Amino acid sequence: MKLIFGFLLLSASIIIIIITPTHAVDTISSDQIIRYNETIVSPLETFELGFFNPANSTNHYVGIWYKKISTGTVVWVANRNTPLTHTSGELTLTRHGVLHLRDATNGNIVWSSTNISSNPLARKPMGKLLDTGNFIIYETGDNMNQEDPIWQSFDFMTETLLPGMKQGWDLVTGIDRYFTSWKSDDDPASGEFTYRLETRGYPQLILRDGDDIKFRAGPWNGRGLSGVSNLIPNRFYNFTFVLNQKEAYYQYNLIDTSVFTRLVLQPTGRLERWLWIDDKQEWNLFLTRQNELCDQYAVCGPFGVCNIDKSPVCECLKGFEPTSLNQWKNTDWSQGCRHAIPLDCNPGEGFKKYSNLKLPDTQESWYNLSMTLVECEKMCKRNCSCTAYANSNTSGTGSGCLLWFGDLIDIRTINENGDTLYIRLSASELDSIENSRSSSAGNKIRVIIPVTFLVLIILVSICLFYRFYNKKQQQQAVVTRLTGTSGNGFQHDSENTSTSDEYLELPLFGLSTIHKATNYFSMNNKLGEGGFGPVYKGVLEDKREIAVKRLAKTSTQGLHEFKNEVISISKLQHRNLVKLLGYCIEGDEKMLIYEYMSNKGLDSFIFDKSQSELLDWSARYSIINGIARGLLYLHQDSRLRIIHRDLKAGNILLDADMNPKISDFGMARTFRGNEIEANTKRVVGTYGYMAPEYAGDGIFSIKSDVYSFGVLVLEIICGEKNRGFVYIDHYNNLIGHAWELHNEGRSLQLVDKCLVDSINISQVQRSIHIGLLCVQRYPKDRPTMTSVIMMLGSEGPLPPPKEPGFYVGKGKQDITDSSPSYGSSSNNELTISMLNGR
Ligand SMILES: *[C@@H]1O[C@H](CO)[C@@H](O)[C@H](O)[C@H]1NC(C)=O
Ligand SMILES: *[C@@H]1O[C@H](CO)[C@@H](O)[C@H](O)[C@H]1NC(C)=O
Ligand SMILES: *[C@@H]1O[C@H](CO)[C@@H](O)[C@H](O)[C@H]1NC(C)=O
Ligand SMILES: *[C@@H]1O[C@H](CO)[C@@H](O)[C@H](O)[C@H]1NC(C)=O
Ligand SMILES: *[C@@H]1O[C@H](CO)[C@@H](O)[C@H](O)[C@H]1NC(C)=O
Ligand SMILES: *[C@@H]1O[C@H](CO)[C@@H](O)[C@H](O)[C@H]1NC(C)=O
Ligand SMILES: *[C@@H]1O[C@H](CO)[C@@H](O)[C@H](O)[C@H]1NC(C)=O
Repeated sequence: MKLIFGFLLLSASIIIIIITPTHAVDTISSDQIIRYNETIVSPLETFELGFFNPANSTNHYVGIWYKKISTGTVVWVANRNTPLTHTSGELTLTRHGVLHLRDATNGNIVWSSTNISSNPLARKPMGKLLDTGNFIIYETGDNMNQEDPIWQSFDFMTETLLPGMKQGWDLVTGIDRYFTSWKSDDDPASGEFTYRLETRGYPQLILRDGDDIKFRAGPWNGRGLSGVSNLIPNRFYNFTFVLNQKEAYYQYNLIDTSVFTRLVLQPTGRLERWLWIDDKQEWNLFLTRQNELCDQYAVCGPFGVCNIDKSPVCECLKGFEPTSLNQWKNTDWSQGCRHAIPLDCNPGEGFKKYSNLKLPDTQESWYNLSMTLVECEKMCKRNCSCTAYANSNTSGTGSGCLLWFGDLIDIRTINENGDTLYIRLSASELDSIENSRSSSAGNKIRVIIPVTFLVLIILVSICLFYRFYNKKQQQQAVVTRLTGTSGNGFQHDSENTSTSDEYLELPLFGLSTIHKATNYFSMNNKLGEGGFGPVYKGVLEDKREIAVKRLAKTSTQGLHEFKNEVISISKLQHRNLVKLLGYCIEGDEKMLIYEYMSNKGLDSFIFDKSQSELLDWSARYSIINGIARGLLYLHQDSRLRIIHRDLKAGNILLDADMNPKISDFGMARTFRGNEIEANTKRVVGTYGYMAPEYAGDGIFSIKSDVYSFGVLVLEIICGEKNRGFVYIDHYNNLIGHAWELHNEGRSLQLVDKCLVDSINISQVQRSIHIGLLCVQRYPKDRPTMTSVIMMLGSEGPLPPPKEPGFYVGKGKQDITDSSPSYGSSSNNELTISMLNGR
């Protein structure tokens, strides 16, 4: 089964070979021996302890795994770094209360629960596996004490945090419980990644790759982890943080004890929460903690703030400016920002309030949990090296004091329930912020006139340049210009600063090669027409098949910038994106060479009566998931942060295994000649897929892509085009129809007739629901692709969708069909690219 869940399942849980137990006991007494084919089972048979052997490994380990769950997911490993290479291992509990794993072939002890030197010397020890998954060694007889065992596996955590485990410190004994990833899916040895509660400054959870910080889950702020926006109350588990003289730890507990959930640090360094879905008998990814570029540690440098809704994502805090303007412009944010007016420890200095932030790194901080905010401010003001302060507990009216010294690092914006920080600024900076607020109206007029003038000048020079440039292009061989280093065009990716090296990175094809491959752009070779020009099939001399996109000649972008752009786009690599193989620039031709997809576009399957039977529900569902992942990568995971702007069925290509690959991504970037920020005069897109704010006002954002994605989901389920769909009872398009069916609880009627036999009802209903959430009228209501993926991958409740964009209600005319700028006689999904008449 090519289902996405199958894939996730494989990559997340370890299939192990488990020996059938010969006896089911939950305890081990001293001098008893557990051999290879024997196990200990917890009283309610939730967990099992014994020997196991990871799927592709010849090593053998002692570990604990779920007994109730058939996949045999391992949650703890004893001898992770000292495996046995054969099955002659013996596990014993000594008379002194120490668990030993002995190699029976030579009698060596390969693993032991405690150092021999620190032997606790119990008198009548007993080992027991509890239903929490904790293996404890405790004293029996008169001193019986299971609550405070001599030893417990929960104190020696591996890569999994189970409900009830503590992640953090016992400050009395010095035990530090933290995650260490497995080396790989089939090797439990300690990997690169650790995730622990670090107690330098105010305690915070930090994920490291070796010594480098990868992600900071933020300090606890009394309500949650500052900066982990998806750690919110839910019906499965609650969570808490304890900080006192004796202990400092994070913990979660089950609310509904019938569910299984675990927080895992994967070998890849990702923290993932998995939830067992009993109906499906599989683990579902419920949450991940590092979702976005802004979760990358210190991505914007000191005093920089990462805002995932902005492009580029980094900005300086108010009152600060980039330390190096050039690097900042080139999206190298590592140097961060500095005070616009340096601090000089003048008594006039004060603090400005910044809201909705993730608290900065607390490694250089000081705290007192009983001070008030007023005392906190006084304390910070007294010490010139104190740069900011905040409440340590923001629950209720707020309490406690947290002071920062030195640079403020790793700040990001949090849309809901973010934290408030008070940052020290110079007296004059405070004044100017104060003034700009009070006189902003007067300033506006003073600003508008020069700006208008400036814009005019720029427009005129662009026109002049364009004419001049076209002339020049005819006279001069272009390729020579390309290799020169004279261009000072703005580069979008800091990796692309040297010109001659990058030239080698992506093959440049000659025009004659392309002519030969495509038979001089023969009509027979034409595959279709995309947003930025026609696409042709070609065969190279070495028989490799390629797809050639011949770009329309409307871009005003300089060749140098174009080339840089293409090279940076070629660095986008994802299994759900079509791969760029090379490019060709000659004369006024610009072409992109892609890998050829034998299966053409998704449109040729879902909208075609005979072909559509080839895609059953599970194939369609995996296509929906694949597109979502590709789009998430474009929006958030890649460094370039790309808004596709023309997502449609025709731009989703299918490979031989029916994996979806998004094509035409990044084109919007190379065509940005006419646009100012996120508001464009040149609307590129396809009617039926365009969000209302984009089609109407030319405003685009990642949320307009989300809208197109929603349309696509509904089309994949329904097998009909949104545009051109007319339902007899009312004059709505597909979206309106889906919305009305959903409201009447009949959403299953939307399903393509040829799918009926194969559908999974709950998946279909959920997908329609998510589709409707994506096409809501207002961009702010639509989910991000991160949430879409989370919603697709879990079974929790979904928010009700609000009215979709382009919904006209019953009995009215479909407004998209009456749009005058589009010849509505044909049903072709032509990409339009027009100047918006505003
Ligand atoms: C378990 O292993 C022991 C010794 O290796 C062997 O004697 C016994 O037959 C095995 N039991 C089963 C059920 O395989
Ligand atoms: C084991 O190896 C096979 C073949 O290399 C691979 O397909 C499979 O995914 C591997 N299993 C695990 C759990 O790594
Ligand atoms: C065990 O003892 C060794 C040396 O005595 C020490 O380095 C190590 O940290 C100890 N391990 C534990 C778990 O106490
Ligand atoms: C979490 O839920 C459990 C079970 O309902 C309850 O006993 C516990 O007090 C709760 N903890 C917190 C911090 O709310
Ligand atoms: C914390 O602040 C309170 C109130 O100001 C004070 O009584 C207490 O001594 C402080 N504790 C420390 C460790 O500074
Ligand atoms: C200011 O705070 C720093 C860091 O805690 C400390 O080292 C320094 O002594 C303090 N200075 C004053 C004047 O209190
Ligand atoms: C934070 O403040 C709230 C409300 O005042 C209080 O109930 C809670 O115990 C505090 N939490 C910590 C960790 O101090």
